[in-house]
Amino acid sequence: MAYLLRRMEKEDIDQVTEIDREAFPSQWPPANYKQELQNKTAHYIVLYDDTKTIDVLPESPKSNFNIFSLLMPWAKQKTPEKVPLPPTTRQYIVGFSGIWMIADEAHLTNIAVRQQYRGKGLGELLVITTIDLAIEHKASFMTLEVRASNLTAQSLYQKYGFTQMGVRRGYYLDNREDAIIMSTESISGESFQRQISELREALKQKLPNIKSI
Ligand SMILES: CC(C)(COP(=O)(O)OP(=O)(O)OC[C@H]1O[C@@H](n2cnc3c(N)ncnc32)[C@H](O)[C@@H]1OP(=O)(O)O)[C@@H](O)C(=O)NCCC(=O)NCCS
Repeated sequence: MAYLLRRMEKEDIDQVTEIDREAFPSQWPPANYKQELQNKTAHYIVLYDDTKTIDVLPESPKSNFNIFSLLMPWAKQKTPEKVPLPPTTRQYIVGFSGIWMIADEAHLTNIAVRQQYRGKGLGELLVITTIDLAIEHKASFMTLEVRASNLTAQSLYQKYGFTQMGVRRGYYLDNREDAIIMSTESISGESFQRQISELREALKQKLPNIKSI
């Protein structure tokens, strides 16, 4: 089994949205990855399983609607019949994560792993790669919000040096749940880097087929 990482592309949006909905079924408003990819402050990565592919349908062509065809139906042009495009084969995405860069703060917006791929260290791989991404974008520190009930994610973040800084009461609109605000110390500082390089080494043992950790 080989897992590889790369930047998110617009052709990934359907798979990423599917993983998002599986991970956060009640989230309101739901994340909009089309918008996220157009957001200059956002940077997203995807993790894919190199042994598997998926057929995806290309975006349907734009409708030929125009106001004149409503006002003057007799003048409506005959449009050529739309031929459906064949599906294209894409890499099978198993997880993703992203940040927003706000001045020197990298805000971790989201991280999720497909359910059947959880518990193998892939969440850790995404966190480490996201920290690398934040450093690449010259972030000094990282922040995030996590549901008070999401102890799995909190445990993952604590392992990677995030500590609780505060609580936003009733932050989540679907059930008015509190958000725990977490933050790192300086991510380029010596003690954080030492902690991450130890975790990186441990993860290499767990995921020997990943070259880019
Ligand atoms: C959070 C999530 C990304 C973790 O991914 P994963 O691939 O299963 O995690 P890993 O296998 O890399 O586990 C890493 C660490 O996460 C924590 N963790 C993972 N599964 C856990 C579980 N079932 N219970 C408690 N902690 C758990 C542990 O700290 C673990 O480290 P350890 O192995 O040393 O105990 C995944 O559970 C997920 O997609 N959840 C839904 C989306 C979500 O909640 N995202 C966070 C939004 S803020």
